[in-house]
Amino acid sequence: MDYRTIPLDDTSARELAATGLRYALVDAADPDALDGWIRADFRGFHGRRPSAEMLAGARENFAARRNIAVYDDEGPSREPVGTVNTWPAPLTVPGGARVDSWAISSVTVAPTHRRRGVARALLGGELRTAHALGLPLAILTVSESVIYGRWGFGPATWSTAWTIDTKRVRWAGGETTGRLSFAEPDEYAEIGERVLDRAMAGRHGEIGLQPYLAKRLIGPLPADPDAEKLRLVRYDSATGEPEGFVSYSLKGDDDFTRHTVEVRYLAAATPEAQRALWRYLLDLDLVAAVKVWTRGVDEPVQALVNDIRGARVTDLEDHLWVRILDVPAALQARTYEQDGSVVLDVADDLGFAAGRFRLTVRDGRAEVAPTDDPADVTLAVNALGSVYLGHDVARGLALAGRIEGDVDALDRLFRTAVPPRLSTWF
Ligand SMILES: CC(C)(COP(=O)(O)OP(=O)(O)OC[C@H]1O[C@@H](n2cnc3c(N)ncnc32)[C@H](O)[C@@H]1OP(=O)(O)O)[C@@H](O)C(=O)NCCC(=O)NCCS
Repeated sequence: MDYRTIPLDDTSARELAATGLRYALVDAADPDALDGWIRADFRGFHGRRPSAEMLAGARENFAARRNIAVYDDEGPSREPVGTVNTWPAPLTVPGGARVDSWAISSVTVAPTHRRRGVARALLGGELRTAHALGLPLAILTVSESVIYGRWGFGPATWSTAWTIDTKRVRWAGGETTGRLSFAEPDEYAEIGERVLDRAMAGRHGEIGLQPYLAKRLIGPLPADPDAEKLRLVRYDSATGEPEGFVSYSLKGDDDFTRHTVEVRYLAAATPEAQRALWRYLLDLDLVAAVKVWTRGVDEPVQALVNDIRGARVTDLEDHLWVRILDVPAALQARTYEQDGSVVLDVADDLGFAAGRFRLTVRDGRAEVAPTDDPADVTLAVNALGSVYLGHDVARGLALAGRIEGDVDALDRLFRTAVPPRLSTWF
């Protein structure tokens, strides 16, 4: 079934109609409708008016998604007053399985129509659609951390931003092997997408990227204002296997010896690629600082330099939000680093995931079944989403009263030695 054309949710259609608004699927083959939708989306995030070239690029992106609009037919504008889009994205979960999850993006409501329940209808509609499709999870990255808790999402990965003073630090990461070379984004696109896929499959919390999202990391998209400044360096192993790349641009300073490197994306499918690309960045001449964003909480930069304080975390933020829709399917999809058994009582205001379940882990694999046994742990679906990928949050949530009962048992089962990471936005 083509997820882009599954009929819209009746409940949301009724809720919106009751306020005089029309809920509609946008036909990706209708350029006027899609362009209007894209303009509304850009405006919703305070972006610029898209040029013809930007629209053409965005059309390519959004053609692969289920694009939904809300129109105010009584008003003078034909552009949507609300937007959202969705698609099934493979989310890597602990143990390496890739679970089709309902990715939700482009949630905007025109400021002229805010706080009238439009977002509630859009989110509710797509969660019910995903649940009806049998998808165990919905996922999103967020503009503000106060919005999505009410729909059962919980922050499940955290990301870091770094500034490294490269005049201060020296490389201390040992010898590196393999080959570094400059590449042209167009020529490298296919290889780069394969490298990204390998990197994303190799780390829980990452998602498989649609081609447009991958291209954005490898090189400039149409009408990217930084297009001419962007450089791409690829890493191939000693045997010639493509294993990583870094895309970046340089910002000048009054002092020509003190450029700043802004990393758009560093993709590493192997530790060798990660080390070699970091070394490349830190050793660049005429550079005083390297800045990177959206790395994991365990990005090992400080281990790679001689002066730890020359590499500073400048930001630590929630990043991927997870909404569990089907508790047994979600919990059985991942593996566990310890064996054990725990009864979870899950509360869910929207009803999808509510219930009491026994999770039994043997040899790292889980069996999950409804039970009437007394609960060991009581938590809302948001908290279950937060611990699901293995991030170290259970004890904090217990301290705040959002997980009750045997939090140590829960933490032992769910937490992973390597923390989850999502290193891009969607
Ligand atoms: C966030 C946004 C989509 C909300 O749309 P909306 O139609 O005004 O939201 P609703 O009227 O459906 O609100 C539903 C609930 O969310 C709350 N809410 C909505 N936006 C909120 C925000 N930014 N911060 C805190 N609460 C918010 C509402 O108060 C309401 O709460 P309630 O359940 O207690 O009644 C809209 O403000 C927007 O487009 N913002 C700019 C773009 C953006 O940040 N989008 C999110 C991308 S991840």
